[in-house]
Amino acid sequence: MNAAPSREATTAAGPKRWDDLVAVLRPQLSSEAKLRREEPLAPRTTLRVGGAARVYAEPANVADLQALLRGAQAAAVEVFLLGRGSNLLVPDEGVDGLVIALTPDAWANFESRADGRVWVGAGLRLKNLCGLAAKAGLLGFEFLEGIPGSVGGALRMNAGAMGGWMFDVVEEVQLMTFAGEVKTLARAAMNVDYRHCAELHHAIALGALLRPAAQADVDAVKRQMDAYARKRHESQPREPSAGCMFKNPPGQSAGRLIDECGLKGERVGDAEVSPVHANFIVNRGAATATDVLELVRRVRARVRQLKGVELEPEVLLYGKKWKDVL
Ligand code: EPU
Repeated sequence: MNAAPSREATTAAGPKRWDDLVAVLRPQLSSEAKLRREEPLAPRTTLRVGGAARVYAEPANVADLQALLRGAQAAAVEVFLLGRGSNLLVPDEGVDGLVIALTPDAWANFESRADGRVWVGAGLRLKNLCGLAAKAGLLGFEFLEGIPGSVGGALRMNAGAMGGWMFDVVEEVQLMTFAGEVKTLARAAMNVDYRHCAELHHAIALGALLRPAAQADVDAVKRQMDAYARKRHESQPREPSAGCMFKNPPGQSAGRLIDECGLKGERVGDAEVSPVHANFIVNRGAATATDVLELVRRVRARVRQLKGVELEPEVLLYGKKWKDVL
């Protein structure tokens, strides 16, 4: 258990609430499951800012996950899923809740079916999914290669790149409700849109059945993936970031709008509007979540003033609502 000091001591409930939750959950979990107090989240995100999870868990199997969700529900504790942390902003004070990560060790299966479809676990990294699909000669997943996320996060966000998005290749999703019930939903029964999947706001994706576009030879799949990777390297920054900060407004590009407002290089502390792509806020080294939030406010205000456009964040703000901080 990690006993790092936190600001929780100043909150009404105090640390006892979280210690009690751990005491209740621990005996219900398998010996492979991890359960910790005050787990730092910044190293688990690509932006590398923010505080700790009051309680953090890595379930090793479905029964562990059920026990975690039911225990949290009984204690009226909020649950947050953590994927690869690539689209997340964790506040500096951390997250008052139970953060659950489906780690690759236990949740990353990739099973090719005889009919060409593939079953993938929520913890599988998209990069690995693409590599395994390429080896199997399956065409149609290349656009996912450069997205630094996991299958679960990509389903939750309907992640996209290069003109495609996750649900283009999904046939069905297996999920667990916050009450611990496992369900399978067909793609057609799900409400999916740009960076949005309604069913996964109150449930956890366990995995999905994917349909490749076609069979192809391994070299053809690799060539397509290389072309996308080149395009990404030319147009996106390398520094730590949470990917695109804002959604593209209908028919417009948030990056172009921010660029046209002269905001590239704008800085608050070590948070900077990337000079490479204006819709990325990068961490120059020691940025805090507070810096990032201040820069988000500044960018929105300038774009509103000069362009009359209200930019909506795409990145998830952990444990808070954007409307309460903007
Ligand atoms: N542009 C500028 N200045 C900039 C950035 C972009 O003028 O600083 C222009 C570009 O020249 C281009 C247009 O804006 O004409 C669109 O830019 P880009 O092709 O980079 O695409 P995007 O709309 O900014 C989207 C996704 C990315 C995804 C790329 C590549 C969103 C918010 N962004 O970016 O997704 O990687 O397409 O397919 O939908 C993410 O979601 O986190 C993300 C990075």
